[in-house]
Amino acid sequence: MSDSFPIRKVDHLKFYCGNAKQSAYWYHKIYGFDITAFTGLETGNKDESGYLLSQGDVRLFLASPLKPGHPAGPMIGVHGDFVRDLAFEVDDVDHAFKTAVERGAEPSYEPITLEDSFGKVRMAGIKTYGDVIHSFVNRDQFSGPFLPKFQPKNLKGDGIGLEYVDHVVGNVELNQMNYWVKWYEDVLGFSLLATFDDKDISTDYTALMSKVMQSGNGRVKMPINEPAEGKKKSQIDEYLEFHGGPGVQHIALHTQDLPHTIRELRARGLEFLQVPLTYYDTVYERVGKIDNTLEELAELGILVDRDDEGYLLQLFTKPVEDRPTLFFEFIERNGAKSFGKGNFKALFEAIEREQALRGTL
Ligand code: FE2
Repeated sequence: MSDSFPIRKVDHLKFYCGNAKQSAYWYHKIYGFDITAFTGLETGNKDESGYLLSQGDVRLFLASPLKPGHPAGPMIGVHGDFVRDLAFEVDDVDHAFKTAVERGAEPSYEPITLEDSFGKVRMAGIKTYGDVIHSFVNRDQFSGPFLPKFQPKNLKGDGIGLEYVDHVVGNVELNQMNYWVKWYEDVLGFSLLATFDDKDISTDYTALMSKVMQSGNGRVKMPINEPAEGKKKSQIDEYLEFHGGPGVQHIALHTQDLPHTIRELRARGLEFLQVPLTYYDTVYERVGKIDNTLEELAELGILVDRDDEGYLLQLFTKPVEDRPTLFFEFIERNGAKSFGKGNFKALFEAIEREQALRGTL
């Protein structure tokens, strides 16, 4: 199976925020992103302000409406700060947009050319679940910062080794997972990498199902979760309630040295989900030989899992918003290209413990 049209990689993630200025500072100080470009009143943009955060190949673009009447205003009211756009870099924007729409995608915006003295960028967008869109971007004829009419900034962050966006996970409503799996197959030509059903990921109380979609070259991985029937409210239902519908649940960022990354993030005050210490009793049985010491992994609370090809280290943050919605994952892959069931279940149980504290289980 191959993509409907060539998708090179994740280009950037655009967030709509109530106050992008303060959010950008948080990601800059804690995650160590460089702030490399700016748009706003000072650059002649009267609609929205925005800050580009860069580290390795990861680009987060945080934007805020500047006035009432901006279409993102009501969306922020519904969702809180949220991921609006998972943008892909493509060879040919017009071909990508035309093909996607022919294959059933609803347009978000028609192809446009943005231009300044650094050159041209072509972009177009299609809608996916909730208020999320996929932009197609090609900047082969552009040498400026991020997009035309952005002002370069050079605010260096204290980087933590982030390399690229490993995967982006969406939560959708009950019985909608297969609809979106088929949508990614039909529209983008993605294929199914892995399936986790409620037998893999359930506790005494709640359950969820998940399917992992991936692009032809493997550079874009998009798991999609839906709630499954349980005795109590699933964490996916909690997300859907507080987010006001489907949306991006977590963003996983790859690092070459997860212990280093986590040590830095903990020192800077970022909070992570916790697994019980007994989790480490069975690591070697579940995963086999690994290069890290169990002492270091347990000290930092890092999770370990494997697939057929190798192992992976992961850790999940607590929600980074006031609402129990968006969180981040940090991941180091050592051969593993997919995901393991053990960590999925550990994540699920850890979120459930937090849900109980919030009174939303
Ligand atoms: Fe993940």
